[in-house]
Amino acid sequence: MTERVSNALNMVRGLTPFVPKVAVTLGSGLGNFAKNIRVECEIPYRDIPEFPVSTAPGHDGRFILGYVEDVPVICMKGRIHYYEGYSMEEVVLPLRLMAGLGADTLILTNASGGINDSYQVGSLVILTDQIASFVPNPLIGKNDAEEGPRFHDMSAVYDKDLQALLKKAGEEENIPLKEGVYCQLTGPSFETPAEIRMLKTIGADMVGMSTAVEANVARHIGLRVAGVSLISNLASGISKEKLSEEDVILAGKEAEPRFERLIKTFIKKIGEEE
Ligand code: HPA
Repeated sequence: MTERVSNALNMVRGLTPFVPKVAVTLGSGLGNFAKNIRVECEIPYRDIPEFPVSTAPGHDGRFILGYVEDVPVICMKGRIHYYEGYSMEEVVLPLRLMAGLGADTLILTNASGGINDSYQVGSLVILTDQIASFVPNPLIGKNDAEEGPRFHDMSAVYDKDLQALLKKAGEEENIPLKEGVYCQLTGPSFETPAEIRMLKTIGADMVGMSTAVEANVARHIGLRVAGVSLISNLASGISKEKLSEEDVILAGKEAEPRFERLIKTFIKKIGEEE
């Protein structure tokens, strides 16, 4: 563990003895999920020494610790993106902190551009795999063998049992769910139509700017990972419309009630697993 992570951990431990089971990262326009949490403690990122602060629109920037359906969770309201100018090490720092506090399961949510022809704006998609080959690997550098091996297995990034639980949650809540492969690019520009044709050819179903590097590090440190994406727009060239940040946030608002129900029921099911 780096000094930066242990300093952050010590600071949070000084504020609360709360031990989360599930860590949740909330994506663009989905931040209001936090209102489903029976809050025990809130910690703005800026209060944590040497911690990155999210600057992206729609991203608030605080940890919320508390209970969802009696399951202890830690929620990242506002994530850190590489395109904000932070190093990959900084981007994944919050994950290391949430794992250090005790979380063993990570739910990553995001907004992404739909590439797969069966997706529509507002579709919710279970991540089954990912392509992170276009972004720097956050694990480059010295390996801490206590955290994970130098070369770690990536053959099943998104946990099969969690995917099955997500499907059950969707069925129970009557929320249709699709499945697909997420591809991360650095952003902050949206893609060109030619880039989207390339991504489609190599097997990507959706494209975004966050989740794959987070899932990678989470697997390295031994968390079970689930991912859900809201298709906030059809990717460049697939729809005739120009892409805008406002549309991403607007689609988030529209999908929010469905998304909230899905994640709440999913967390409840994770709590019932053992
Ligand atoms: N491309 C990349 N990232 C995104 C998009 C997109 O079309 N929509 C939401 N995040």
